Amino acid sequence: MKKSVLVCRAVFPDIVDRLREHFEVETNEPDIVWSRDELIAHLQGKAGVFITGTQPIDAALLDACPELKAVCSMAVGYNNVDLPACTARGVLVSNAPDVLTETTADFGFALMMATARRIAESEHFLRRGEWTKWSVEGFAGSDVHGATLGVLGMGRIGQAIARRGALGFGMKVIYHNRSHLSAEIEADHKAHYVSKDELLRQCDHLVIVLPYSKESHHTIGAAELALMKPTATLTNIARGGIVDDAALARALAARQIAAAGLDVFEGEPSVHPDLLKVPNVVLTPHIASASVATRLAMADLAADNLIAALGFGPNAGKPPTPINPEVLRR
Ligand code: 8YV
Repeated sequence: MKKSVLVCRAVFPDIVDRLREHFEVETNEPDIVWSRDELIAHLQGKAGVFITGTQPIDAALLDACPELKAVCSMAVGYNNVDLPACTARGVLVSNAPDVLTETTADFGFALMMATARRIAESEHFLRRGEWTKWSVEGFAGSDVHGATLGVLGMGRIGQAIARRGALGFGMKVIYHNRSHLSAEIEADHKAHYVSKDELLRQCDHLVIVLPYSKESHHTIGAAELALMKPTATLTNIARGGIVDDAALARALAARQIAAAGLDVFEGEPSVHPDLLKVPNVVLTPHIASASVATRLAMADLAADNLIAALGFGPNAGKPPTPINPEVLRR
């Protein structure tokens, strides 16, 4: 009898077909966002699950689904998964790194540029029919080329953004990260390590690309925003919760910083109502990795992991991107 797996959200049919070569597959064609209890009910009897970045997989859920052996996510961020709880129960977890790096960096850069050059704000003005004359200072923003780019979180995506800034736009790149990058990587990216406070004080455009954890919760709050230049912009493509959205809305309303570009929000898909009231913010619905090719590659990689983790396909027993590979050695 084939093992059963669950695909939590509607994904590309080709991916489901690939999974069906090896498994009984339950899908979620109507793309319902299941409650935790619904998810547990659908997981009964499943050996593996294909998730996205939002389904919470924690100890109590794992205990309620004892047959589950593999949790494979099509997201790179895995703050929705309790990794130690999975490892303790011998459940393999995989994510989807690398395949989305360049697409996500493209978007981060685009959002930063849209923020600096006030693209959304001016488009809203035009759509409201308020464009009756050109004016010298109309929607004058701040330059991106030659400005100082501050990257908070210098992992794969942070480095891809730094490259775009340094090599494409002649920006001075400074970064803050848990660890210094090697001198070689710093030289390739023309990037200089600074303290978090220096990053906030010096940058013209801050781009946040940190993983979310208890430790990174509200890394940027009122005190940090107060260090930034009044002309600076802040772009968050990482996770909601890294920025204190209420404090950010206050800083934007008071013009303590010039503008923000946000792809992620605390409690998304809800958005803090005060952010919706301020004009100097560009808001997008968590789409940084959303090119067709990249979403396909992310889903493909999650399927590869699921197939291999459960002992099938050319990489049987060797999923390509496990997060807790120690589980495989047991
Ligand atoms: C995903 C993301 O679109 O990969 C991540 O961590 O945030 C996005 O690329 C989303 O999480 C998919 O569920």
